[in-house]
Amino acid sequence: MTPHFAAATESAIPIDVIEAGSFDHFLKHAPAQTAAWAKANGFAGKLGQVLTVPGPDGIARVLVGWGTEPQRQRDRLFMATAAAQLPEGVYTIASGLNGPALEQAALGWLLGGYVFDRYKEKPAPKAQLVAPVGVNAARLEAIAAGDYLTRDLINIPASDMGPDGLEAAFVKLALAFGAKTAVIRGDDLLAQNLPMIHAVGRASDQAPRLLDMIWGNESDPKITLVGKGVCFDTGGLNIKPASSMGLMKKDMGGSATVLGLAQMIMTLGLKVRLRVLVPAVENSISAGAYRPQDILTSRKGLTVEINNTDAEGRLVLADALTLADEEEPDLLICKATLTGAARVALGPDLMPFYTDNDGLAGDISAAGTAVADPLWRMPFWDPYEPMIEPDVADLDNAPKGGFGGSITAALFLRRFVEHKDRFVHLDIYGWTPSPKPGRSLGGACQSARAMLEVIEGRAAK
Ligand code: BES
Ligand code: MN
Ligand code: ZN
Repeated sequence: MTPHFAAATESAIPIDVIEAGSFDHFLKHAPAQTAAWAKANGFAGKLGQVLTVPGPDGIARVLVGWGTEPQRQRDRLFMATAAAQLPEGVYTIASGLNGPALEQAALGWLLGGYVFDRYKEKPAPKAQLVAPVGVNAARLEAIAAGDYLTRDLINIPASDMGPDGLEAAFVKLALAFGAKTAVIRGDDLLAQNLPMIHAVGRASDQAPRLLDMIWGNESDPKITLVGKGVCFDTGGLNIKPASSMGLMKKDMGGSATVLGLAQMIMTLGLKVRLRVLVPAVENSISAGAYRPQDILTSRKGLTVEINNTDAEGRLVLADALTLADEEEPDLLICKATLTGAARVALGPDLMPFYTDNDGLAGDISAAGTAVADPLWRMPFWDPYEPMIEPDVADLDNAPKGGFGGSITAALFLRRFVEHKDRFVHLDIYGWTPSPKPGRSLGGACQSARAMLEVIEGRAAK
């Protein structure tokens, strides 16, 4: 399934997008029949109202209520909901939206077209939109396709998306764009000094591995994406209770999101030298599983006392980040479904990000707002550093008490990066718990569109 706009056609059904405040104005200027029909149906431009207006050949027009600005602030991408209500046909946005709002409506339409039907037939939305004049249709299609890829990768369960499946998806994407890949698997992780990826993943039947992709011109700005690829997180020997384990197929959401973002970057042909690193593991339980109180020595040489085998994400990411940082990229972006604490702090729909670079932070916040992909800066709070320092090793993977859990996890990751001013970490959720416009229930592509904006701003021209 690939998102696309319909070809322009004379017979496309026009959509008028009407704000509540301009409904009276609309009534005055609309043909008498349309005005009467709108009134008779109680259409008043309220957010979410969709009214088809009959004509001699079927639907003559569609009225879409756009509410008021404060109402629209409560969510985003409302056009997806309108599109879902429309019968099969080709539509065009005829009035009411311009500029970025028009672009976002068109994107919302595409994002609303996603269906996860790999395991069961499901009806796909049948209403198609002609790309509005003035929007870059190919760009929006590329963005939506990356978003779909991320949702698919998360939605596919661990039975088909274990480390083997994730590697296959990773290599498939790389091949499609002529990117170079390298895979370090199993005991080779020890030989190549990636010991924590090995320790976390070694209890699984599917060997732990590090996936590495490089694309683009060496002379262009170096952008490296690192994504948590825990294909299933049982918690390990510190096993999760059923209620917490239920969603853990999504614990590769960081890797799914960096792959969606990588696909956007490569489709758009951004002038960057892109690298994608994914530690792909399953945090499972068997005789070989790593244990509480084990002390691991990381690639960087820092020792880590394991105080909870369920704090596995930071371990696999630590080695991947050290490797990424050795090359001194211009920007190092980490995405991970890292902590439950991030959800306690900000809920499922607002993603915390951490960076020491104020300029970069400003760009990320602005991008999130501009493209309706909400992000919130949280602090690398130095006074909490002692919380991640145990008695017997350099670092503790699971500080007692759990205070500031998203912050202490972020601080842990930062210890493995030398070029801290080029580093940003996003503690994402990767899931939509109840369906929203343009966001189906299940896997979610969070922070990719915002970071695409940021990367575009740093690409060579
Ligand atoms: N994958 C989880 C974090 C998670 C849980 C994200 C639920 C989203 C929803 C991670 O590996 C984990 O288990 N973290 C622990 C860390 C703790 C043991 C220090 C957590 O957040 O509880
Ligand atoms: Mn865990
Ligand atoms: Zn995890």
